[in-house]
Amino acid sequence: MNAGFLNVYQDKARADAYAELEFPGTYYLAYRDLPAILGEHIRGTKAVDFGCGTGRSTRFLHALGFAALGVDIAEHMLARARDRDPHGEYLLVPDGDLGGLAAETCDLVFSAFTFDNIPTMEGKVARFRSLKRLLKAQGRIVNLVSAPDIYVNEWASFSTKDFPENRNARSGDKVLIVMLDVEDRRPVEDILCTDADYRDVYERAGLIPLETYRPLAHQADPYSWVSETTIAPWAIYVLGPAA
Ligand SMILES: C[S@@+](CC[C@H](N)C(=O)[O-])C[C@H]1O[C@@H](n2cnc3c(N)ncnc32)[C@H](O)[C@@H]1O
Repeated sequence: MNAGFLNVYQDKARADAYAELEFPGTYYLAYRDLPAILGEHIRGTKAVDFGCGTGRSTRFLHALGFAALGVDIAEHMLARARDRDPHGEYLLVPDGDLGGLAAETCDLVFSAFTFDNIPTMEGKVARFRSLKRLLKAQGRIVNLVSAPDIYVNEWASFSTKDFPENRNARSGDKVLIVMLDVEDRRPVEDILCTDADYRDVYERAGLIPLETYRPLAHQADPYSWVSETTIAPWAIYVLGPAA
């Protein structure tokens, strides 16, 4: 799985930069509505944070009262997560293999930005199937991803103006984006995935999209927005098992 694809987060400098990141600018918008969304859809507190990175999303879940286990394939990211949160639980998992985690035990499987880096439709379907296996009957997956629009606009926290080729990218193609909130300005390489393709992936994985959120910024938010008040940079899917 993942043959020929380099996860940009398997990199110590990237992990160090990411570890300092909290919820500035455009990221604020990714997380702003999550307490209400999770409050509406999730019953229970047992959670797995799939692609926890340096633990930002796991610490966020802990602060909301979830008993969240962070899992990731990148050791450098996990090392920084453990530095930041020595009492938290963080686990290195083999790519595409969550077989070490108990089935049907989770109220919530949360994934923030992880699927932005997972190539091919088949790869996404396989990983969603293994995440679905973790859910209790009433459990939910909350999948937060970049909307295709993020790669062709300017944002408080991101720039794509140096990558005009992003405009010709189709679902499944690589796209480049620079994070403006960290010192490491090397472009991050993501995989474009349209809403239609995500819905196809969910269906093939036996998941039903129960709700989709595309948060827009408000003028009252504490940031100087660029495109965020009119174009949604993120999509948040709430998914339940089809059967
Ligand atoms: C953009 S980071 C997001 C980290 C964190 N969720 C946050 O919001 O700060 C994406 C993470 O997903 C991880 N990742 C990518 N593919 C993965 C996979 N197949 N299984 C587990 N983690 C994966 C990467 O190593 C990286 O740490």
